[in-house]
Amino acid sequence: MKSNSDMNDTQIEIRATRLSDLPSLVVDCLNPTFLERKYLAITEAVPIGEALAYHANHIMAGYPHFVAIDGERVVGICDCSPSAAARIAAQTHNATIGMLLIPEYRGQGLGEKLLRATLAACKDRWGRIELGVYSHNERAHKLYLRCGFVEEGRRVGAWKLDGVTSDIIDMVYRP
Ligand SMILES: CC(C)(COP(=O)(O)OP(=O)(O)OC[C@H]1O[C@@H](n2cnc3c(N)ncnc32)[C@H](O)[C@@H]1OP(=O)(O)O)[C@@H](O)C(=O)NCCC(=O)NCCS
Repeated sequence: MKSNSDMNDTQIEIRATRLSDLPSLVVDCLNPTFLERKYLAITEAVPIGEALAYHANHIMAGYPHFVAIDGERVVGICDCSPSAAARIAAQTHNATIGMLLIPEYRGQGLGEKLLRATLAACKDRWGRIELGVYSHNERAHKLYLRCGFVEEGRRVGAWKLDGVTSDIIDMVYRP
């Protein structure tokens, strides 16, 4: 594992995701973060084939999809795709964004770079970019406010896992 000072010497690139990034994205980045069980709705490893197909479909569809790369290793992702409700004609202007970095790359400002790159790619595409953040996830909440998300509501006590109860804060960004 790298220390923060090691990472200062390393060039970490933020760029659009390539299909060739997907194995590392799933194995090095997504599944370990799901298994932390703290920040995301998914709290167990996703079968690799299923995750590869899901992200490949999004890239092929042209949805904004960015990674943070350290060498060949994917260390973070931010992607945006139509909300499930977008199948309803009157709600096709809604999209959902998701992001994560693996632990040793957090707290360096990379999340903000990833998020801003993804939001820029959402411009002129959707009217509302939605997300839900857990109230114990203060770093993510602060980042979203800093990047222009506003709170629309709070589902009090809607997140409960491993002895911790939190609110789900619904936030929206209007490109
Ligand atoms: C949420 C998450 C993506 C945010 O990314 P991040 O890179 O950690 O956060 P930011 O880009 O906002 O970085 C800001 C932090 O980096 C620090 N930092 C250090 N160098 C910096 C720099 N050059 N520029 C900006 N910030 C810098 C800031 O002090 C700040 O620290 P703080 O949050 O402890 O006050 C990341 O923490 C993460 O993956 N968390 C787990 C998964 C998750 O929560 N996903 C979102 C679910 S809604």
